[in-house]
Amino acid sequence: MPEPLMSDQLITYLDDLVPERPSEMQKMEAYAAEHDFPIIGPAAGYYCYQIARMIGARSVYELGSGYGYSTAWFAKAVQENGGGVVNHVVWDKELSQMAGRHLAALGYADIVRYTVGEAVGALRNAPGPFDLIFNDIHKVGYPESVRVVEKRLRAGGVLIIDNMLWSGRIFDDNDRSENTEAILETTRMLTTSSGWITTLAPIRDGLIIAYKK
Ligand SMILES: C[S@@+](CC[C@H](N)C(=O)[O-])C[C@H]1O[C@@H](n2cnc3c(N)ncnc32)[C@H](O)[C@@H]1O
Repeated sequence: MPEPLMSDQLITYLDDLVPERPSEMQKMEAYAAEHDFPIIGPAAGYYCYQIARMIGARSVYELGSGYGYSTAWFAKAVQENGGGVVNHVVWDKELSQMAGRHLAALGYADIVRYTVGEAVGALRNAPGPFDLIFNDIHKVGYPESVRVVEKRLRAGGVLIIDNMLWSGRIFDDNDRSENTEAILETTRMLTTSSGWITTLAPIRDGLIIAYKK
């Protein structure tokens, strides 16, 4: 494993800047810590929420939603933006059901719609266009997902992709695994295309923020 990109001190500092979450979200954070489940965590979650508020997002599509922690941040934004829909999509039925319980407890039952299935295929068949698309699926699926996102995101919409620093494995010349190559290819696609304005924010494991022109 490469050296950690961020010190524990910096990670804790950034997470501590995030306002206190409701107890249901704290339970979700505790579950992730106990079970080593890769949620985006407070700092990246709050950043996603901020972006969704800034663009006034009312329709959000998530690819790879887990048990709904990232969904909760988007649902909060959509609710505060005046209401709308957040699509929760994951291929694990149990995680979808677990998300349903958490998100109902948080008061987002009216906002979140659930799909159990492969997320890129589901987005391909979704009507759209969406204001914001968040991508946290298996990493080899990222390049193909961008091609689908391009068709389903509105002009002026935002694509956010997690794990773009891949714990530093992108810097390891000996790591030519499918996942690492897919992350590098996706970064190249979004940073060299004239259709996107893209930055990579080094929050947690790296979030790409791509604005569709
Ligand atoms: C990293 S976790 C999601 C964490 C979630 N975004 C959060 O921050 O709370 C990714 C989840 O998506 C699922 N997944 C991965 N690739 C997928 C795909 N192509 N379609 C649907 N689900 C997928 C995984 O099984 C896992 O449950």
